[in-house]
Amino acid sequence: MMESTFSDLHRLRYGTAADAASAALPVNERLGGIIGRRTIRQFEERPIPDELMTQLLAAAQSGPTKSDLQQYSIIIVDDPDRRKAIADWIETMPFIMSASAFLVFCGDIRRNRKLCQADGRPHDNDNLDSFFNATVDGSVAMQSFILGAEGAGLCCVPVSYIRNHGPKMAELLSIPEGVFPIAGVAVGYPVWEGKPSIRLPQDVVVHRNSYDDSAMSALVADYDARRHEIDPNDAAKQRNVNVYGVSDVCPWSEQISRQLSLPERPYFRQFIEAQGFSLK
Ligand SMILES: Cc1cc2nc3c(=O)[nH]c(=O)nc-3n(C[C@H](O)[C@H](O)[C@H](O)COP(=O)(O)O)c2cc1C
Repeated sequence: MMESTFSDLHRLRYGTAADAASAALPVNERLGGIIGRRTIRQFEERPIPDELMTQLLAAAQSGPTKSDLQQYSIIIVDDPDRRKAIADWIETMPFIMSASAFLVFCGDIRRNRKLCQADGRPHDNDNLDSFFNATVDGSVAMQSFILGAEGAGLCCVPVSYIRNHGPKMAELLSIPEGVFPIAGVAVGYPVWEGKPSIRLPQDVVVHRNSYDDSAMSALVADYDARRHEIDPNDAAKQRNVNVYGVSDVCPWSEQISRQLSLPERPYFRQFIEAQGFSLK
């Protein structure tokens, strides 16, 4: 990472100047790495040494976990045929194959169900909250893996698109009852330094003592304009052009409505229930 001051990092992350006081506070390397992070989708053809992968998996397992329940599993897909099958299903994401490694982070209540069974106790928590806890645990593990990898000079792409193929993924990777895929992670050595994507201002996302979105519309309009100036959504980036066509100017908020106006994965609940979860 080349940016070293909070001023530089703030400008990259928000497209605006930091306030003087926070700009004056030095940023340590770890914090700077987190603020300056970015998703990069182009990889060198270079393997990740096994010993480094072991360390990255330790990072994944070092995230906080709800009640120490550790309700997640990680599947490393290093069988080329299986990985190619996933890449073929998701034609628009060639980095699934070109990355050095591909992993699938899963929520997992199966292991603890078995432990309850072994102790002769019921597992009386098959409900929406357990599904949610397992999703959060797996997501925290994924982000811990990503931050560790980025700290080691690698980059990662999370891939939620694997959930577009839930039943096929479950079959391909023998994902049993009580386990479900949250996201894949393609990881490798980047061929370029990438660029951070501009985030919403803190005044939109952070609330103090009580939730207040009264200024949201105006602040998002500013953000849209700023983001368009720095990183416009050209025709190739615009979402659902088959339905909405191409806009001359397509700000971030239009991308959101373009995407969310059409249902995504409406069958997902059915898949999760088929994986043996009760979402009651
Ligand atoms: C849960 C999750 C799923 C994602 N799925 C995909 C995906 O399927 N394909 C992809 O290219 N990027 C995916 N991403 C990456 C986001 O597109 C990316 O984080 C976002 O555009 C912001 O860019 P940045 O990470 O560079 O800040 C995913 C990110 C998350 C957290």
